[in-house]
Amino acid sequence: MKAITYTQYGSPDVLEFQEVPVPQPKAGEVLIKVAAASMNDWDLGLVTGKPYIIRVVTGGLRKPQVPIPGVDVAGVVEAVGENVKRFEVGDAVFGDLSESGFGAFAEYVCADEKALINMPEGMSFEDAAALPHAGMLAWQGLMEKGGLKSGQKILINGAGGGVGTQGIQMARLYDVHVTGVDSAGKLDMLREMGFDEVIDYRQKDFTTDLNTYDLILDVKSNRSIAHYARALKPNGRYITVGGAMSRILQITLLGPWFAQFLKKRLEVLSLQPNKNLAEIRELYETGKLKPLIDRVYPLSEVPMALQRFAGAEHHGKIIIKM
Ligand SMILES: NC(=O)c1ccc[n+]([C@@H]2O[C@H](COP(=O)([O-])OP(=O)(O)OC[C@H]3O[C@@H](n4cnc5c(N)ncnc54)[C@H](OP(=O)(O)O)[C@@H]3O)[C@@H](O)[C@H]2O)c1
Repeated sequence: MKAITYTQYGSPDVLEFQEVPVPQPKAGEVLIKVAAASMNDWDLGLVTGKPYIIRVVTGGLRKPQVPIPGVDVAGVVEAVGENVKRFEVGDAVFGDLSESGFGAFAEYVCADEKALINMPEGMSFEDAAALPHAGMLAWQGLMEKGGLKSGQKILINGAGGGVGTQGIQMARLYDVHVTGVDSAGKLDMLREMGFDEVIDYRQKDFTTDLNTYDLILDVKSNRSIAHYARALKPNGRYITVGGAMSRILQITLLGPWFAQFLKKRLEVLSLQPNKNLAEIRELYETGKLKPLIDRVYPLSEVPMALQRFAGAEHHGKIIIKM
């Protein structure tokens, strides 16, 4: 089969489009004929080896140990391993493979059946591949940890990527006022997606609006915890899903102090992949969630797709179609 492989860390140029053996499903796994995949921050991290924590987590301190990147997958079950209970050959499935060895940038991939659910009637493979990872971050950040409720004033920082463009649609399930923060070139798109207000982060620091937000979802934490805290209303919540490691560490260490003494909760989301896929699927089936697709690239052009992702030129999700 054709796959995207790499043997050293570096820029997207280290990626190769190669012929490799088709994997065989182990017990509890299914072999998927991949129809579509999508680009995520994980993929950039696997290829560049940065931040360094990625090397620690994947056991590849000097050389990559994940042979084929690719987190989000959508495709058709081609074969099942022993003890697979939930799927049969021919089922259309989708899911996040970040706890299942990655590998979606290939014509076939094996995945633990627990990482997948069935695609509903009418869902395209492109949409299915766009939803799992970003959708889960948005859902768990806004709904589970954030406790989103009607009447709130919320803000999504880094709103123009996968998480923000799905998060706004989840926020719209409630009667809330939503502000989106991103670079100037994405603000029209954010307004079209339904953000009530938009801020260009190069023009304005949103944390200078004091005591303003009930809930902030941040995909790009790069300021001090005190700045985020001052933008929250009393009893407000700030949930970060990613950003600078030093900021994440600060929030982890000092968050409990801010909760106890200032009654403002500032927390880091630790993603539970695939946990809420059924909810996301239902939102899609009922027409309440439709991923924003940026561009669709063939498998051979993953290096170009990764370059576009690394430059943050994308609006919504970049798709790889087999
Ligand atoms: N918590 C977990 O367990 C976990 C697991 C996996 C991934 N993650 C994290 O989840 C996040 C995924 O988000 P995503 O897929 O939506 O990312 P994305 O598609 O890369 O979008 C991020 C957006 O933020 C904008 N941006 C860049 N710098 C900014 C700044 N200083 N202020 C405001 N906006 C800024 C970018 O646009 P411009 O560059 O044009 O400004 C881009 O539109 C990543 O941070 C990833 O590391 C977390």
